[in-house]
Amino acid sequence: MKIFLDTANLKQIKEAASWGIVDGVTTNPTLLSKEDQKFEELIKKICRVISGPVNVECVSTKSKDIIEEGRELAKLADNIVLKIPICVEGLKAIKVLSGEGIQVNTTLIFSPTQALLAAKAGARYVSPFIGRLDDISHEGMDLVDKIIAIFSNYGLETEVIVASIRHPLHVVDAALVGADIATIPFVVLDKMVKHPLTDIGMEQFLKDWSKVKR
Ligand code: G3P
Repeated sequence: MKIFLDTANLKQIKEAASWGIVDGVTTNPTLLSKEDQKFEELIKKICRVISGPVNVECVSTKSKDIIEEGRELAKLADNIVLKIPICVEGLKAIKVLSGEGIQVNTTLIFSPTQALLAAKAGARYVSPFIGRLDDISHEGMDLVDKIIAIFSNYGLETEVIVASIRHPLHVVDAALVGADIATIPFVVLDKMVKHPLTDIGMEQFLKDWSKVKR
């Protein structure tokens, strides 16, 4: 499973990239609003640190405007992927932009039908938001499971990005159902490395090493 970092924070991106496990980055307007840097400059910096896909969201609402905005955003770097929210205007834009060779991640996916339509329109990725479904007592991972089954039934090559991840068990479940990608906040990634028994074990080994005759 590929790991994307779900943040626009350059410090976190550089740190996680140094761990050697980051395959891409996803941003959205909310994540970008937390950063005290000009949007385009920040995206270009992220694209210099991460060679894989860097996802940037289109905020226009009419297909014509989404297409224009998407074409401009795609010029920022070779590895830009456009995030376009699922809606009728979004589908029209996905069709055109994908036809021009620009990769699109259809975002804010909350149903299997939305994912199917996005894939048929030409999206390279779909992003089901599982945490937000869990928040309202719907099984987010069931949605991921269904999308994977549908894409597999028809040989659709669109990749599934599990998004809105809240904790490490979401990542485990994403991997168990065979998701292509999990996009993970830095705080969750950090928790994935840690285990109290590892800490206790390391402490004990260091203590015992000091007693070893050398
Ligand atoms: O990439 C966007 C998505 O992961 C949003 O997560 O926590 O705002 O539901 P959240």
